Amino acid sequence: MYDFDKIIDRRGTHSLKYDFAPRRGKPDDILPFWVADMDFASPPAVLDALSQRVRHGVFGYSDNADEGYYNAISRWYEKRFGWKTRPEWLVKTPGVVYAICTAIRTLTRPGDAVLFQQPVYYPFEGSVRINDRRPVVNPLIYEDGRYRMDLELMERQIKDEQVKLFILCSPHNPVSRVWTKEELAAVGRLCARYGVYVIADEIHGDFVFPGHTHHVFASLDPDFAELCILCTAPTKTFNLAGLQISNIFIPNEKIRHAFIREIKRTGYSQPNVMGLLACQAAYEQGEEWLDELLKYLSGNLSLLRSFLDERFPYASLVEPEGTYLAWLDFHASGLSDQELNDILLNKARLWLDEGAMFGAGGEGFQRINFACPKSLLIEGLERMEKAFGR
Ligand SMILES: Cc1ncc(COP(=O)(O)O)c(C=O)c1O
Repeated sequence: MYDFDKIIDRRGTHSLKYDFAPRRGKPDDILPFWVADMDFASPPAVLDALSQRVRHGVFGYSDNADEGYYNAISRWYEKRFGWKTRPEWLVKTPGVVYAICTAIRTLTRPGDAVLFQQPVYYPFEGSVRINDRRPVVNPLIYEDGRYRMDLELMERQIKDEQVKLFILCSPHNPVSRVWTKEELAAVGRLCARYGVYVIADEIHGDFVFPGHTHHVFASLDPDFAELCILCTAPTKTFNLAGLQISNIFIPNEKIRHAFIREIKRTGYSQPNVMGLLACQAAYEQGEEWLDELLKYLSGNLSLLRSFLDERFPYASLVEPEGTYLAWLDFHASGLSDQELNDILLNKARLWLDEGAMFGAGGEGFQRINFACPKSLLIEGLERMEKAFGR
């Protein structure tokens, strides 16, 4: 019903993925599989809502207090994740990274220790550093091709480093784990016991493969809800990142007021009206589109898996449980990161995200974004096969 096979030319559209290669030191003819946006058009209902507004022609200020907007999001979270929210918990920001930076300043002081689990989405560390807080890295454990949390080390770090805040990535980018209820409960209990606040970045929560379930951190225990700033957004799910809208839920009233005050200090007030419209339309009418998309992505994942199993002995797949990002283990290739990047970039002319960017434990890995038409993915994989000389 939806045509995810259709190739949409994104060049010349101010696309970070397609239009900035030379400016970022990459060859111009490179095929990009790096940044986490998709090569698919957003759901038709979103396009209709935006077109209607364009035809209306007036783009004056919007405001925050719209019941329809909140209802669309709250219904989504209740239906898909069994999480009941309250209207007053919701704070809108232009992005999740903006919210993470704001949350760091809200919950900690300069010099305070902030913990996160690497390898992880690199702006976590960047957000901690740019706000003059102290990063504490808790490496994930990689065993038998799967990642798990190191809670024993985390407890020692919380005590020894006096950690004030933990940034959770759930589902986890780039290792694509969908944390189980038990794992989330264990990490939540640890934070609650030591009074550590939690930023739960759940931007990838809608991308979960069969056999796995995403659990909203705040829904697991009222104590977790009280200590967390929960970051959600329609931007990954419906491919709206350029519209800059995210929905941050903060059940704890004191924290929420402090967070809003911190937002005001940056001078940000009314959200982008196109982002609001797109978000509401997506949550109200985009469910069927998303369910179709998830099937399509499962197909791409099967393709990637068979390619690696049958035709490409240089890398193995860390089986993704969620997200549309696959973490490829290139250790079998015996190549250094430099050699690997050189082959991928200059020979295959592919732009992946190199593992080392994601911090400790990322060496020898590459992250590939497989949210694109199947034919593009095939072209990328064939380029890779050819460049490695088979
Ligand atoms: C875990 C995670 N958080 C946040 C973001 C970006 O969010 P935003 O564009 O809303 O700042 C990304 C994008 O890749 C992500 O993977």
